[in-house]
Amino acid sequence: MRSHRTHGVVRLPEAMLLCHGGAGHGAKDQPGVDRAADAGWAVLSTGGSALDAVLAAVEVMEDDPALNAGTGGRKRDDGSVQLDAAVATSDGRLGAVMCIEETPNPVRVAAALLDESIHILAGDGARDWADARGFVKATVEGSECPSSTDTVGAVAIDSDGAMAVACSTGGCTGRPRGRVGDTPLWGSGFWVDERIALTATGIGEAITQKLLCHRVALHEGSIEDALRFGLDLFDASIEVGLIGLTAEGEGIGLANTGMPWALRSATR
Ligand code: GLY
Repeated sequence: MRSHRTHGVVRLPEAMLLCHGGAGHGAKDQPGVDRAADAGWAVLSTGGSALDAVLAAVEVMEDDPALNAGTGGRKRDDGSVQLDAAVATSDGRLGAVMCIEETPNPVRVAAALLDESIHILAGDGARDWADARGFVKATVEGSECPSSTDTVGAVAIDSDGAMAVACSTGGCTGRPRGRVGDTPLWGSGFWVDERIALTATGIGEAITQKLLCHRVALHEGSIEDALRFGLDLFDASIEVGLIGLTAEGEGIGLANTGMPWALRSATR
């Protein structure tokens, strides 16, 4: 168990979870994000791991047709639905899938790659790998919603001080088949180390060019300062949002546009 020593007092980590429903979304999608936060917190508050908590939260959002992930994944320019998802933990594990089809919960496939000797799979190969392991295969109708951006994501720290991040998206509406945004890219759409856990949402091309989450992780100062530094890397016309938390129990969500997000902890 990791603990923090403050003025001679040993303080155990406070379990905390944050999740977001995507930059560019408004208040109407807050209830779906709150449901996801409650699902993650139900895991965390009963002694579950940060990893299981972020997976529970993201799965709820993948099942919400209003949000751009899993079931509600936005369509590509040919009408297909290709999904990206990623998971990582503060002990250095990573799993990601890109452009996977017929997979309502891609975050579960990404999580299954955490302990494999390969960590990232794309396209038909990702689905073949999921088939071999019995992951649900079903048509994902996707959403005609014209919003161009968004993604869902969650970060958590558990009472052992372990942190985890998970994120999932259908990508930006109308992009070509095979296009990959920031969400499944380590350092761009998500980051976690022993100090901080982060995930981003917004225009994937711009976020990837800035290697956003890694740069935010390196920023000195409070979590709020670090997230503001990240948002300030972008022109205001580019929708971007971030959620993050630190091992010291600071957590916040910030965006330069609407972004429903929620925080759950024992005290907040
Ligand atoms: N941020 C999600 C994407 O651009 O695919």
